[in-house]
Amino acid sequence: MVEIVSARTDLRRQGARYTGLCPFHEERSPSFSVHAEEKLYHCFGCGVGGDLFDFVSETEGIDFPAAVELLAERYGVEVTREQEDPRAEARRKARNRMSELLERAAGFYSTFLKDAPEAGKARKYLASRGLGDEILSSFGIGYAPSAWDTLILRGQRAGFKVGELAATGLVQKGRSGGMYDRFRERITFPIRDARGRTVGFGARAMRPEQKPKYLNSAENELFHKSEILYGIDQARPSMAKAGRALVVEGYTDVLALHQAGLTETVGIMGTAITEQQIAQLSATVDTVILALDADAAGRKAMLRAQEVAAGRKLAIRVVAMPAGEDPAEIATAENGGERFRELVAGAVDLPDFQIGLILDSVDSTSPQDRDRGLGEAAPVLAAIAPGATREDLTRKVAERLGIDPTVVIARLGQAPAPESAPRPTGVPASVAGDGLSGGSAGTRAGVSVADDAPPPRALLTRRERLERSMLVMCIARPTEGRIYLSQLDEEHLSSPLIARTVAWLSEHLEDPMNGLDPEDRELHRLVGAMVVRADPDQIGEGSIRRNFKELELAALEDRITTAAAEGDSELRARLSRERSTLVEEVRRAEG
Ligand code: UTP
Ligand code: MN
Repeated sequence: MVEIVSARTDLRRQGARYTGLCPFHEERSPSFSVHAEEKLYHCFGCGVGGDLFDFVSETEGIDFPAAVELLAERYGVEVTREQEDPRAEARRKARNRMSELLERAAGFYSTFLKDAPEAGKARKYLASRGLGDEILSSFGIGYAPSAWDTLILRGQRAGFKVGELAATGLVQKGRSGGMYDRFRERITFPIRDARGRTVGFGARAMRPEQKPKYLNSAENELFHKSEILYGIDQARPSMAKAGRALVVEGYTDVLALHQAGLTETVGIMGTAITEQQIAQLSATVDTVILALDADAAGRKAMLRAQEVAAGRKLAIRVVAMPAGEDPAEIATAENGGERFRELVAGAVDLPDFQIGLILDSVDSTSPQDRDRGLGEAAPVLAAIAPGATREDLTRKVAERLGIDPTVVIARLGQAPAPESAPRPTGVPASVAGDGLSGGSAGTRAGVSVADDAPPPRALLTRRERLERSMLVMCIARPTEGRIYLSQLDEEHLSSPLIARTVAWLSEHLEDPMNGLDPEDRELHRLVGAMVVRADPDQIGEGSIRRNFKELELAALEDRITTAAAEGDSELRARLSRERSTLVEEVRRAEG
């Protein structure tokens, strides 16, 4: 648990617990707590919490089964499956074979690049572009030989059928019906998913006549180019830590920036950033910095980025790239890392950048062109929320176009409204109340676009909060806790889940996690969240009693409300008298 969490935040030991800065929200002083033995986490600041699997689901943006598989793979535990549908099983096995083939191919290509005489030219080329052995090897860069049948022969020798080879997209059918290798005489860039598994390749030509310059794997069951960010597996920890992602166009840009220490860089593998890529980014960071080429295509991509990000809680900033240079060139030049960091520090908000582009294109000697500029700037300004940013930019437009600011402002009213109204997104599903009221962890897969809005945030009522803190205290101080637990009857409890939790704790107060049915996720999560919060050092003697009284009071108030709603005035009067007594008791407990 500590190892997994430590990849996201630095932890310090404090007794049985570890504390650190919460990886789920921005904070200066640590309110994130990890219970190593029980493998639970909880943030007192933002309220997230859960067990090891929840942590992995939330931080990787994957669902529960995928989190189990990831952990099993990483720690060499074999996962056994019960009652799998035979068709699903066949598909899973086929996918595993595909994965194995892709890993083998990646391994073969990368060894070939290192050792084969035929790859000498490629080695020289990569070195001339300033890419060192270390970065090439950590990204698994390789070389596909010029022969037509290298992979086919090796694959078959290793026991794979031609059909299996074809399914991976590494081998394809020629016009005459024969099969041949897709990648030949190319530098290969394995494309890995967020878990670091190779799902496809990009392959760069060595000679100018070879077309296209980059040949990618054909789309297949494992490889969907538009859903992948190149380098995400290596960049994710740095992205999460920095809270931002640097987005570039090309494979070599990613390599060069990682080599220069900007390890929060990912590539979009071309110019059009996709909705799925934006969704993945916004699952991990709140700021995206685009470092795309300064050419027209790059600019179009920036606008496209704004469109697909519309409505997400994602700030998009733009690095002004010097014309004719790409990030790889800058980063591999002398002091390139430093220079690139400066460029990144100078990144401007997207609207600012757009306005700059528009103003730069205006011929200030031509009134018509100034009008055109105003026409283009108005919708950009209108889309910015009213405030200082908008006012500053409005002034800038007015100044540069030599128009009175009031004229610019008048145009804003007429500009077409921005297309989509912002909707709140990007909040981890479990950041609600104490992290137990929202949906279960893992419902918010980072890659799904249609349903990535968080589940409605059912905030806890005062009574529910008191119930939960009551149970936390009982766990922290079991001797007194046992007594209070036995006094918690149905009347105090607001839901069947809480009643089940009370029943469980009454029997298992000494060691609440032990024997819990892991498939009862609901109970498991709730008990887990209580246990991780139950630090005896934090809970004083008087507090259980006070909390108990307050809970009694909150429950009583709910009963009064019900009696009033049902028109039972007699019951209501009696309960109200009870209430006065209880209020007095609470006051005394506080004293
Ligand atoms: P670029 O043409 O800018 O390539 O395309 P690059 O990364 O700078 O390559 P070098 O520096 O010449 O080696 C940017 C990205 O667009 C995708 C690739 O992912 C490439 O890295 N691309 C480009 C393709 O998929 N196919 C192509 O034919 C060209
Ligand atoms: Mn380039």
